Amino acid sequence: MAQRTLFLLPGDGIGPETMGEVRKIIDYMNAEQDAGFVTDEGLVGGSAYDAHGASISDADMAKATDADAVLFGAVGGPQWDAVPYDVRPEAGLLRLRKDLELFANLRPAICYPALAQASSLKPELVEGLDILIVRELTGGVYFGEPKTITDLGNGQKRAIDTQVYDTYEIERIAAVAFELARTRGNTVCSMEKRNVMKSGVLWNQVVTETHKAQYSDVKLEHMLADAGGMQLVRAPKQFDVIVTDNLFGDMLSDVAAMLTGSLGMLPSASLGAPDPKTGKRKAMYEPVHGSAPDIAGKGIANPIAMIASFAMCLRYSFNMIEEANNLEKAIANVLDKGIRTADIMADGATRVGTTQMGDAILAEFSALS
Ligand code: NAI
Ligand code: MG
Repeated sequence: MAQRTLFLLPGDGIGPETMGEVRKIIDYMNAEQDAGFVTDEGLVGGSAYDAHGASISDADMAKATDADAVLFGAVGGPQWDAVPYDVRPEAGLLRLRKDLELFANLRPAICYPALAQASSLKPELVEGLDILIVRELTGGVYFGEPKTITDLGNGQKRAIDTQVYDTYEIERIAAVAFELARTRGNTVCSMEKRNVMKSGVLWNQVVTETHKAQYSDVKLEHMLADAGGMQLVRAPKQFDVIVTDNLFGDMLSDVAAMLTGSLGMLPSASLGAPDPKTGKRKAMYEPVHGSAPDIAGKGIANPIAMIASFAMCLRYSFNMIEEANNLEKAIANVLDKGIRTADIMADGATRVGTTQMGDAILAEFSALS
């Protein structure tokens, strides 16, 4: 039996509640499908700070590095607002992304048929929507130097952020986008602003060259990022995979997210480079939402984003495509039956809490398997 190692970091707030529902699915897959998951669990964020004064311990970092995949819940909350900057809960998340070199952030925007009415767009524009935004996560203007605010001495200050991209950073994110496109609609749209940014010129060149050299079977188009934002809300179904830099990806993925409804529904994955020996990529899977302190401990959080993140883990870290599809289908079926947590409640639907939603999805998953 294959051994698959998972490191669970539930974190703060609703993190432990939603992670509990994923744990049930893992246990089921081990018991009924011989999935061979070996799990370990650590502390991250405020809960780690309370335990040992750091946002994640070195021991837990080592476990995260060794595992095949990391499942991350959420971190943060008002009780840690006064904690020093370098040990605040979010620092743990940033350290994981940086130390594991998770340069590719995958944000799917999928519109479940049952929730098309909840979109801010007309239902016919989003029904059946299935796009994947691949955002570069470790470079660009968020990390580029110089990054300063200088006092000019004349009552003025000057703020500088620097957008930096090297060829290898663009090559590797483009490769991820093309490889993922091959498993989906075989189309990549690359977005930058080559009309006003040098980094956009290089981005466009490198994506084009990477395509020509290794991925010419995939359809490639280029769009200026502002026009891309417009097209995302005008006709989102034209897209399959979108690849873009850190800043544009941050904004465009939030735009795409809102096409599909609630924050409680949105999963994400962050991938690193393939290991030269094994071909395995480091990976972390997490919901897009935060720790939701306003509803933490009430048992009403929507576990779907966390469960859908685990479905991405099955697909991208373990190549368990059928299981991933079944889990996503189970989510869709449960929504079709009108079973809803409070955040996605609709007229005539049955309102349930976190564990009931998890149980309903597991029952459906088991029926499909
Ligand atoms: P949030 O995502 O935690 O919550 C925003 C709103 O959405 C709240 O009303 C919340 O109740 C609701 N919500 C979020 N997830 C939900 C779910 N699964 N089911 C039902 N409702 C849900 O963002 P907020 O309030 O801005 O931040 C709260 C804390 O979380 C802060 O400390 C923030 O720094 C942290 N945070 C952590 C992130 C992470 O761990 N990746 C990401 C975003 C924020
Ligand atoms: Mg954002």
